[in-house]
Formats: sequence, C-alpha cells, structure tokens
Amino acid sequence: MHEQTQEITDLILKAAEKARAESSQEAEPSMTSPIDWPVQCNINRGLDGAIACETRVGYVNGAKGWLIYRGYDIFELTAHASFEEVCFLLLRGHLPSQAELDQFTEKLRGYMQIDETIKYLKQSPVAKMGPMAALSLGVNMLRVEGELNDELESSMRLIAAMPVILGAITRIRAGEEPVSPDASLGLAANLLYMMTGEKPDAEQERLMDIALTLHADHGSNASTFTAMVVASTLSDMHFAVCAGIGALKGPLHGGANEAVIHLLGEIKSVDEVPSWYHKARAEKRKIMGFGHRVYKAYDPRARIIRPLADHLTKKGKPEHREMLEKAFALEKEVIRTLGEQKGIFPNVDFFSGTVYTCMGIAPELFTPIFAVARVVGWTARVLEYTEDNRLFRPRASYIGSTYLEFKNIADRGECCATS
Ligand code: CMC
Repeated sequence: MHEQTQEITDLILKAAEKARAESSQEAEPSMTSPIDWPVQCNINRGLDGAIACETRVGYVNGAKGWLIYRGYDIFELTAHASFEEVCFLLLRGHLPSQAELDQFTEKLRGYMQIDETIKYLKQSPVAKMGPMAALSLGVNMLRVEGELNDELESSMRLIAAMPVILGAITRIRAGEEPVSPDASLGLAANLLYMMTGEKPDAEQERLMDIALTLHADHGSNASTFTAMVVASTLSDMHFAVCAGIGALKGPLHGGANEAVIHLLGEIKSVDEVPSWYHKARAEKRKIMGFGHRVYKAYDPRARIIRPLADHLTKKGKPEHREMLEKAFALEKEVIRTLGEQKGIFPNVDFFSGTVYTCMGIAPELFTPIFAVARVVGWTARVLEYTEDNRLFRPRASYIGSTYLEFKNIADRGECCATS
C-alpha cells in the first residue's frame, strides 16, 4: 500500500521515532481498564476530569502524547492504512480483511449517490450561509434519500455522503455546478475532486487521506460528547451528527484551523513574529492552534502533519512557504514561553490549514473537512454508547437565591434585581 507516496510514509515513520524518543517516562495513567461505577474523580469547570462512559473506540493519553484507535497507534495507521480502513476499524472494531474492505467500499460508493439531496441543496440559500450551517442542512436533507432503519447503515451513509455534500456546497458557493463522485476514487480523492473539480495527484490524495485519518476520532471531545448526548435521548443519528457539527464549529474546537490561518495572516513577516506574539500575550489573547484539554505533551497529530506541511510547502508557492515559516517561528515562541511552564504545544489545527491551503482550499472550508472526518468518531461512539444506552443528564450546582419574596410589578421600583 502507498507505494507511490513512500516519501510521505517515511516522514511519518520518522515522526513516530521522534515521538517515542521524546515521550514522557511518566507511568501511564490508569485509564485503560474497566471501572467500577460510581467513579471517584475530581471534576472541574468544563467537565474537566469527568468520566462519562467506558469505550473501546479510541484513547488519548495526554501525558505521553498518544492517540490510539481501537488499539492501533495513529502513527501506524497514517503510515500504512487508508481512511476507508480506518473508518471500518472505528465502526466495526477490527481492521478489515481485503474482502471486508471491498464490501465496505462498495457500500460507501452506493451511499455516495445522493442526487435528491444535492438537488434540494442547489435550491437552498447555501451561498448565503456559512459552510458549516450548509453542511448541517445537507446532513438533515439526506433524509430525503429515504430513512434507514439501522443506525450502522445510517452511519455508513453519513460517512459516504458528507464528502459529497461538502463538495456540492463548495461548488454552489463558488457559483459552479456540483461535481458527481467518481466511482474509481476513494473518499479522500473524491472529496478533493468534488471540491476543486480536478482529480488530485497521488501525493495530494495521500495527504488528504492522512488528514482525514488524523481527525477521525479523538476521545470525549466536545463535538463527540454533544453527538452522544443527543443520541442518548433516543433522537437519531442525523440529529446527533448535526449537533456534532454545531459543536465542532467553534474556534476552541474544530474552528481553530480556520482561525490559525487568519492569525498567521495578521503577522506580516517572519521577523515580526516575536513582537506580534509579545503583544498578543500582553493582550491575553489565546493563540489559536495551541493548547489542548487533554494533551500536556506534543499532540501526535501535530507531530505527523507538521513534517508533511514542511514537505509540501518546500516545493509549493513561496507565499505558502512563508506562511509555514511564520508558523514555525510562532511555535518556537510559544513552546519557549508556555511549553514547559503550562504544557501548551501546537495541536493538529496549527498545521492542517497550511496543508489545505497548499491544496487550493479556502479557509472557511477547513472546519467542514474536519467534520467530514470526525463523523466517523461521532457515529462509532454513538453506536457503541447506545448499545447500552443511558440518558446523559448531569446536574448543575445552584448558587442563586431561594425563596425571595414576590412583589407585584407596581411595587418593584426601578429595578428589582437581587444580585
Ligand atoms: N494560547 C495561550 N494561552 C493558552 C492557550 C493558547 N492557545 N491555551 C490555553 N492557554 C492558557 C490559558 O490562558 C490558561 O492560562 P491561565 O491558567 O493563566 O488562566 C491555561 O492555559 C488553561 O487554559 P484553558 O483555556 O482553561 O484550558 P482548556 O483545557 O479549557 O482549553 C483549549 C483547551 C483547546 C480550549 C485551549 O487550549 C484553547 O483555547 N486553545 C486555542 C484553540 C485551539 O487551538 N483549539 C483546538 C484544539 S485541538 C482540535 C480539537 O480537538 O478541537
């Protein structure tokens, strides 16, 4: 596999070696064995530290900088597997045999045929709404292809259809006719083909395949948890995925990739990076593309995509190289000041945008691409959780007043606020 893009595989294997050498020697936190409920843990704001469920889908070890899908290391998967194999792995729990993969890709191919949905999308004000809103609309419209009784089938249809929907949204926004999927291409190549109207070369296809794999799943992140909360009410997979899209949009989560490009655009040159950073810190700005709730070590996804962005920009347009040079200079500043002190390192979003930019993709489409990948994690985890479902329903600690004396409106004066 991947014979045509051996150089890319070598870069990933080198990044894996570096990750192993630099991995913390701390004992592994005991997060990988069955637990007895109720769990004793400290819960902080933003549910930091809360354990909401057990899972076999994937694992993020933030201290060591590990990302595992169904037992397999992300470096191995990006070096050797395809996105379709990763989809199968996350949904079904094991790597597919050749026969299983053939059957699975055939099924996805079938589910990419969503002419009715595209017809309705073309009649909708897609160009007037943000692409994430349009993606959410497209996901809900997918129902016109017919309701599926089985949530695994719905999941496969969503995984296959979301690239088609995003392709159509991209074209409609540009005032162009949507491009139909090409049955000879895989999901990553088809996504690029339907977005740009041009068939990607082997390297572009591989890089998009890797980007989709890197974003496919990531623990109990905000959008995955959101999807699971919606599914736990026994709503349905389409609403769960739409809710996931809504949560992913924010700049603290999936929206960070777009924000990074805008941020790099604010910095005029590599020389200006230190003064820009100094000012941003003085203004207490969050530096987009850095930090993570779970990783206090270097994000393994950033370890993988960083050398790929380097590789791509070395032979690309000078302005793209300059963008990455600014990113490298900023990375140096942030690690020097916040790395050791606070465990703040670049996350995947810091470098993914450069790769997409080199592929000719506009910044507002970065987060929708993230969604096209993360739908795999959303659906895999919803399927797992709802097998033994229990409604998510946490409580809030009430710190307001009680038993205030009610006054009629005429007796309330100018303002009757109590706190
Ligand atoms: N730049 C500067 N300071 C930061 C950053 C940052 N990017 N991230 C965290 N900090 C500081 C923060 O100011 C706070 O400092 P102090 O203790 O002095 O008040 C401390 O680190 C803890 O920050 P927090 O916001 O409470 O941490 P969190 O665990 O709630 O936040 C985060 C995680 C991802 C929301 C945050 O790091 C952030 O806002 N990063 C920028 C947005 C971003 O890149 N998001 C993409 C995340 S990876 C892709 C994905 O899975 O969605």
